Amino acid sequence: MKFPLRSLLCGLFLLATITPGFAVDLDRAPIEYSTAEPDNAITSLMKRLRAEKASLQYDDEHGYLRSLLKNLDVPLSSQVLVYSRTSLQRQRIGPKRPRAIYFNDEVSIGFCQRGDVLEIAVADPKLGTVFYTVSQNPGKQNPLTRQTETCLLCHGSSANQGFPGHLMRSVSVDQTGEMVLSRGTKRVDHTTPFEERWGGWYVTGTSGKQTHLGNQVVGGWSDTAKDFTGVNVVNLKTFFTVADYLTPHSDLVALMVLEHQCEAHNRLTRASMQTRLALAEQAELNKAFGSPANERTEGITRRINWACEPVVQYLLFSEEAPLKEAVAGTSGFAKEFTARGPFDSNGRTLREFDLKSRMFRYPMSYVVYSRLFDELPPEAKERVYRRLWEVLTGRDSSKAFAHLEPEDCKAVMEILGETKKDLPTYWRKK
Ligand code: HEC
Repeated sequence: MKFPLRSLLCGLFLLATITPGFAVDLDRAPIEYSTAEPDNAITSLMKRLRAEKASLQYDDEHGYLRSLLKNLDVPLSSQVLVYSRTSLQRQRIGPKRPRAIYFNDEVSIGFCQRGDVLEIAVADPKLGTVFYTVSQNPGKQNPLTRQTETCLLCHGSSANQGFPGHLMRSVSVDQTGEMVLSRGTKRVDHTTPFEERWGGWYVTGTSGKQTHLGNQVVGGWSDTAKDFTGVNVVNLKTFFTVADYLTPHSDLVALMVLEHQCEAHNRLTRASMQTRLALAEQAELNKAFGSPANERTEGITRRINWACEPVVQYLLFSEEAPLKEAVAGTSGFAKEFTARGPFDSNGRTLREFDLKSRMFRYPMSYVVYSRLFDELPPEAKERVYRRLWEVLTGRDSSKAFAHLEPEDCKAVMEILGETKKDLPTYWRKK
């Protein structure tokens, strides 16, 4: 499939801070990003489709969207809406026709009104983030196609340190959805201060007096009151035809979770790939010097440790931006999300929200249950577990972990003890 290059380059230009190109050549061994066989939620859907155990139904309003979400078990309550013209199908996006994104633990799916394709980013344990499109043309057989180039122009750019990953941004836009470059752009994750989030996004939910940049445009909307701040909006009817979308929401809590998850996946991807690259280099060195195949130099070990630390800090919510007041969404997302568990014997789950002073009740991310985490290279996983254990048992009290309360660490240890099967044995010793 071809996308109009001019429009894409224009998008790239507007993104400004994004420069295409890999820092490392991921198409070579050991990663072989474009040629290696992916293994993820989309490849298993493709298998089910081929075996006729599943089917994708097309409808005139949203094409394959509804059916795709159903097949992938992506909740409708996860819908979030972005109106900045910052992504692939930018000419289809604007405040009157926002782009919708839906997600679960593994997949995120972008939908544009009258878009040529649905856009999919999926977590893949070996390849990090893998991209697909679904042709919105009902006549096309096998509408699902893997994309190894177009998406990486932005998703594999310097914004992701050259690794294929997710993008979440907050930008200032004008009334047509075009970016106002002079105001800068910001990558968003759970460390981003609340008041800097959601430029270019609709946000349904409440946050008390806490401001954010959602629901606004530079210069103001022509038909809202002058003092409109965009905060505490629970109904988007005045902005666009909400009936054109699967739900009327752009849930505040769903946005927070998606932002948290995207960066968690990006860090896991980087840790995994950097570890594999380091180990491949070690293997070559050993071969060149005739050293035993399992020999590991200190330099390589340091590189692996260095690659893992961002994961450890992020999973433990280091530098999480605090909430100053309670926040809530509108779509019921939070409730559905928590219900997914897993729960320990006391009914506790890492998916329980706080939403008063921080995002979650427990300072350990549910992303620990993902395949991305479970299938880290063994060397990286051992390191991450070792570091998590050191921090959670109070052996490491460095600044990055000063936010952790002993009571919460104890609860996290107990919950993980009951819900993670692959903990190293030293975790279980009293
Ligand atoms: C012109 C740059 C650009 C290109 C090319 C691009 N994207 Fe994106 N994408 C973005 C930006 C920026 C965001 C953040 C949300 C936004 O601003 O719309 C994003 C967000 C997403 C999201 C939701 C968040 C996430 O990362 O999981 C998905 C899914 C996605 N893109 C899929 C794709 C797919 C699939 C392709 C290729 C077919 C693609 N994108 C090509 C810029 C791009």
